[in-house]
Amino acid sequence: MQKNAQRVNEIIAKAVEKAHREIGQSVEPALTGRVRWPVESVIGPGLEGAIACESKVGYVNGAQGYLSYRGYDVLDLCMRSSFEEVSYLLLRGRLPTGRQIERMRQKLTSYRHIPRTLRLLMGFPVEKMNTMAALRLGTNLLQQECTRVNREIAKRDTSTAIGVDEDSFAMEVPPEGSKRAVYEFKGVLPARPTKAEKVCAEAAGIESCCHLIAGVPVISAAIGRVRQGLMPIEPDPDLGHAANYLYMITGRKPTAEQERIMDVALILHADHGMNASTFATLVVASTLSDIYLSIGAGIAALNGPLHGGANEQVIRMLERIGGPRDVGKWYRRQRAAKRKIMGFGHRVYKSYDPRARILGPIAHHLGRGRSKARTLLATAREIEKVVIADIGKEKKIYPNVDFYSGLVYASLGVPLDLFTPTFAVARVTGWTSRVLEYLGNNRIFRPRAVYTGKFNRQYVPVEKRG
Ligand code: SDX
Repeated sequence: MQKNAQRVNEIIAKAVEKAHREIGQSVEPALTGRVRWPVESVIGPGLEGAIACESKVGYVNGAQGYLSYRGYDVLDLCMRSSFEEVSYLLLRGRLPTGRQIERMRQKLTSYRHIPRTLRLLMGFPVEKMNTMAALRLGTNLLQQECTRVNREIAKRDTSTAIGVDEDSFAMEVPPEGSKRAVYEFKGVLPARPTKAEKVCAEAAGIESCCHLIAGVPVISAAIGRVRQGLMPIEPDPDLGHAANYLYMITGRKPTAEQERIMDVALILHADHGMNASTFATLVVASTLSDIYLSIGAGIAALNGPLHGGANEQVIRMLERIGGPRDVGKWYRRQRAAKRKIMGFGHRVYKSYDPRARILGPIAHHLGRGRSKARTLLATAREIEKVVIADIGKEKKIYPNVDFYSGLVYASLGVPLDLFTPTFAVARVTGWTSRVLEYLGNNRIFRPRAVYTGKFNRQYVPVEKRG
């Protein structure tokens, strides 16, 4: 492994060791163990404290500040695993054997070929759309026919089953910046599913989950390319998931260091309990709508600046401030106007977000280079110091996953408008894993509202109204 990638591993190992010194491993009794429905919980606005379901997929300990996927500490997974392996773990609940991970990699490689989806998507003004709106559109186009498990459609036409599109689409293969479209697929097109009905019936199964995990990054990268006036790049079957994503965005094969960093960032963003976008995904899935439309709901929710959209807002905030010397004045103005600091605070973490514990040092490592990155990083570190000193202990406001992730993505060559789609590229694993799990014992989500309005009002004809 390249020297620099080894350096990244040393940075992660050091951050993990520090985290393990500072983080306890106790669990919250009320939020772990067997559930005897109905449960009682004290519920605040925004469903704070509400228990939506039970799950084995992942656990967030907000008081201690630790996160685990299927019982494995996410920090250990960052040191030892890969996004493909973590996706298998989240989907199936156990670490794969060598053969199983190889099969997963082949499946993702084959599902990355989605030229028909891209051709349909490019029929829309992607360059003028919000990138998450375009990503949601592309994700819904990913599976045109089987968006319902509809036996009739499945019988009629096998060509719409989950699988590889045959049409080709103008894509650059070796990105030479040429305007010439190269209709060439380097990957091996998998055999068309013999029984579309079976595959469509899988439309809420592992196949569609892998289809989405493989397809969302291709769509995200294609959106980024078109917005730069370039053609999408054909995924390279010889590259892993993280490397392919960077390659399809930048047109350059990433170094081992860049691949390692993107892989760690994807692992850190893969799942996070019942956050807003995961909950939105499950609400749609619980109506037996369809996993593709459910993921579209997750993408829509993640877009908001209070959620996944914060990573882009943080960079805009750092650029607006200008430099570390201007942080004090800026911060006082923010607090006076009661404005939230992007990248800080969390509904669950009342301590340091474990993901920021890794992304911070990586951002620092990457930020030593170019002067703009150095200034943004210095500004970020000054904000962290000022916020923690002022409201950290008192209000338990600490940096969250979005505070440093943007600095990392920018250093890897990800354009600003793809920061939040990159969050979705990782989180699609947590969304699909939880949909699979929830549909195993489904009950439609249907909370209540307390009615605070009036009663028994008498109708007044319009001519008699004031
Ligand atoms: C993500 O849920 C998840 O797990 C999400 C996520 C995931 O992996 O899926 O972790 C990813 O979305 C991270 C969060 C990214 N968003 C931001 O960075 C935006 C800024 N953060 C805030 O908007 C806020 O902290 C939230 C939205 C993250 C949490 O909001 P809550 O739990 O509803 O908290 P709140 O708004 O009720 O605030 C409680 C108090 C308030 O003070 P008082 O009015 O009680 O005096 O804390 C203060 C808030 O003013 N506060 C902040 C603050 N966040 C909360 N003050 C300044 N800056 C902040 N960022």
